[in-house]
Order: sequence, then C-alpha cells, then structure tokens
Amino acid sequence: MKTPKRLQSLLAEGLIDSVVRQLMSGKEATVYVVRCGDDTRCAKVYKEATQRSFRQAVDYTENRKVKNTRQARAMAKGSRFGREMQEAAWQSAEVDALYRLAAAGVRVPRPHNFHDGVLLMELVADAEGNAAPRLNDVLFTPEQAVEHHATLLIEVMRMLCAGVVHGDLSEFNILMGADGPVIIDLPQAVDAAGNNHAARMLGRDVDNLRDFFGRFAPELLHTEYGHEIWDLYQRGLLQPEVALTGRFERKAGPVDVGSVMSEIDDARAEEAARRLRLQPAQ
Ligand SMILES: Nc1ncnc2c1ncn2[C@@H]1O[C@H](COP(=O)(O)OP(=O)(O)O)[C@@H](O)[C@H]1O
Ligand SMILES: [Mg+2]
Repeated sequence: MKTPKRLQSLLAEGLIDSVVRQLMSGKEATVYVVRCGDDTRCAKVYKEATQRSFRQAVDYTENRKVKNTRQARAMAKGSRFGREMQEAAWQSAEVDALYRLAAAGVRVPRPHNFHDGVLLMELVADAEGNAAPRLNDVLFTPEQAVEHHATLLIEVMRMLCAGVVHGDLSEFNILMGADGPVIIDLPQAVDAAGNNHAARMLGRDVDNLRDFFGRFAPELLHTEYGHEIWDLYQRGLLQPEVALTGRFERKAGPVDVGSVMSEIDDARAEEAARRLRLQPAQ
C-alpha cells in the first residue's frame, strides 16, 4: 500500500522497508502491518491528543515521571510546550511499559523501536501467522476459559510485581496468539506504588477478566481475586506464582469484643453527660 504520511520518516530512516496493510484504527491509534527485512512487524501510530478519548484523565497521569522541573511546570500550566511534553510522555509511556514488562517476563509484544510517535513492535500472530484475534473475537470452552483466566491472573501479578498496573485490561486489549494470550495497549499503564488510583484500577482489570471468562465458565463469576492480589501486594507477599483462593475476607482479624464494648460504654457515658448538660438549671 501507499506509505501513510506518519510512516514516511521511518521508511526514510530505514526502520521499515514497506507497509503491508492497515490492521486497525482504534480509539487512540492506527495500527499497520509493516515489513522490516525478513520480519513482519506492527507499527502503532498514536493519534493526536485532540482525537483521543478518555485515557489522559488525571487518574492515569498522576505521578507520571517527567525528566525535569521545567517540563513539570509547563505540564502543570497547560502551555503549548506543556501539552507537547505531556503528549510525548503519554506516547513513550507505552514503550517504557513494554520494555519493563518484557524484562519481567510478561507476555507482551516485543518492542523494537519508538520513533516520531510511532511504536514498532512484534506482530502478535495466530498459528497461521496472521495478526492474532482479540479475546473478544474468540469463543472458549469452559475449560479453556478457566485456563486462560488463570494464566492471565499470573500475568497481572507478574506486572504488579514489576510495579505496573495495566489500567485498561479487557478482552479488547488481549490478543489470542499462537502460544497463548498476549497483553497489549499500555499507554495508560500506571505506577502501582505511586498512583492513588492503582488499587481501584487493578480491581477493575481483574474484574474485567472475571466477567469476560465468566461468560464461558460461570463459576468464575463469584471470585474476588482483585482484592486478594492487592492485599498480598500491599503486605509485600505477592509473587507471580502465589496460590490464590479467589476469596477475600474483609475483616482484618478476629474482632476484639472487649474494645467494642468499651466503645459502647464510652458512647453511653458521653450521651448521659450531654443529657445532663441539656437539663434546665434548677
Ligand atoms: N502487536 C500487535 N500485534 C497484532 N495486532 C496488534 C498489535 N498491537 C495492536 N494490534 C491490533 O490493533 C488494535 C488496536 O491496538 P491498541 O494497542 O489496542 O490501540 P487502541 O488504543 O487504538 O485500542 C488491537 O485491538 C489489535 O487488534
Ligand atoms: Mg486497545
């Protein structure tokens, strides 16, 4: 096909040899299949900020690291330079997360390059070598659903052990590759330790997995892995291979009946004192 404008500089730089076809045009990016020597890869071209949807919300960008204070001030003021910096931070967040997660052994597309707002990465393929389908486009037996759900929970824990919460994990951002599920689409990934919304986002990611696979294996619908995983993480006990129960006890420990009784006694005494004060002076 004719080389799209945003890919021309990659062609000129010799990073790609030709563009095979457009794969997808999603909410945030357009994805192309490209040839690089003997390899077929995937080029993700980010849309301009104005054409994107919700994900630059404050939840996601909170505590995102910038390189210097001039950048931080400009971003806070929302100046043009600030918006450009924010844009660059947003786009490079995905490539940063891919390198970090690949190093942690999470099954994500292998990143090759990031150039001019374009991410070059491994094309996740099915058994025939075609671009892999999204989970949403695949049907599963109950056994397969249980198996993939378990595999993906381990991936979520591996990500969390590497300090990352995906933040938009769902059947639309997981591909069914020839050797199993592959997690994609990470520009909104958040820092687990530094973001106040990380716990909620992790919970939502895990619930999305439960709800999707629960359509094929309804017994999954009663599980509560999100709370359990976050609780282990907070207590420093999380490891990717840790055995989970799928249940979560909200009580922190045995109830201390004595201290509850003395709370009640205190409240009663306070109320008696208040009534005394209210009595008209005699
Ligand atoms: N590495 C990849 N290999 C194969 N297909 C991909 C790859 N990355 C993205 N895609 C395809 O492009 C679509 C959009 O990519 P995604 O990263 O989810 O961006 P968006 O932000 O637009 O949702 C995906 O749903 C998937 O079908
Ligand atoms: Mg997506």
